[in-house]
Amino acid sequence: MPDPGLKAALELNGPEACLAYYRDWAARYDGGFAETMDYRLPAHVAAAYMSTGAQGPVLDVGAGTGLLAQSLREMGFAGEIDAADFSAEMLERAAGKGLYTHLAQADITRPLALPRRYAGLVSSGTFTAGHVGPEALPSLLDVALPGAQFALSVNRRVWTAQGFDRAFDALAAQGRITALQIIEVQVYGPAATTLDPDHAADRAQVVLFRAA
Ligand SMILES: C[S@@+](CC[C@H](N)C(=O)[O-])C[C@H]1O[C@@H](n2cnc3c(N)ncnc32)[C@H](O)[C@@H]1O
Repeated sequence: MPDPGLKAALELNGPEACLAYYRDWAARYDGGFAETMDYRLPAHVAAAYMSTGAQGPVLDVGAGTGLLAQSLREMGFAGEIDAADFSAEMLERAAGKGLYTHLAQADITRPLALPRRYAGLVSSGTFTAGHVGPEALPSLLDVALPGAQFALSVNRRVWTAQGFDRAFDALAAQGRITALQIIEVQVYGPAATTLDPDHAADRAQVVLFRAA
C-alpha cells in the first residue's frame, strides 16, 4: 500500500494545514513513507552538495526527521549541521537521531532568527506542492555567509507553476546568487512504481548556487 500521507501532503494549502499535517505524519514518515516509497531525494541532494566541496556549518532547511543529514553523514560529511523546520514533531524525530548541533523551530517563509553563519544550505522535499514556494529564498540568503553553497531540491511539478524558474533568474540578475546549476533527479526508486503510480515518476531539480 502507498503511504496515504503523500497524496494529502502534496495537496496542502497553506502553512497552518502543513503544520497540522506533519503533527500526525511525523510518526509514520520514515517507516511508512520514506522506506516504502524508496525516497531517494535526500541522497541526491547530499551527493550534489558533496560534489561542491561541502563546507560546514550547514543549515538543513525543512529538515523534517533528518534524512538529508543522515545521507550527508553516510557520504562522509563531518562538519556541523543545524536543522530548521516549523514542525515540532518532525524536529523531535530528528533530534532523536543525534545528527544536528542545533535544531530551530522556524517558519522559513519568514525572516529567520538565526545568525548569518552558514557556509552551506541544503534542502530536500520542502520546495514542493502544498509546501514552500520561492518566497522563502531571501530568508535563506540572509543567514548565508558570502559565497555559501546552496543545494536545494524543487519538485518539477512546481518549478514553473510556482515561479521558481523566474525567482532564481531574478536573484541571478540582481547579483544576489552566482554559479547557478541545475541537476534533474528522480524523487523515488523503483519500489514506488507499484505502490503509488501517480507519484512514482516524480522528478525534482536539485538547484546548486552560491550566495554572492
Ligand atoms: C517532505 S518533508 C521533507 C523533510 C526532509 N527534508 C526529507 O527530505 O525527508 C517537508 C518538511 O518541510 C517542513 N516545512 C514545510 N513548510 C515549512 C515552513 N514554512 N517552514 C519550515 N518548515 C516547513 C515540514 O514540516 C516537513 O518537515
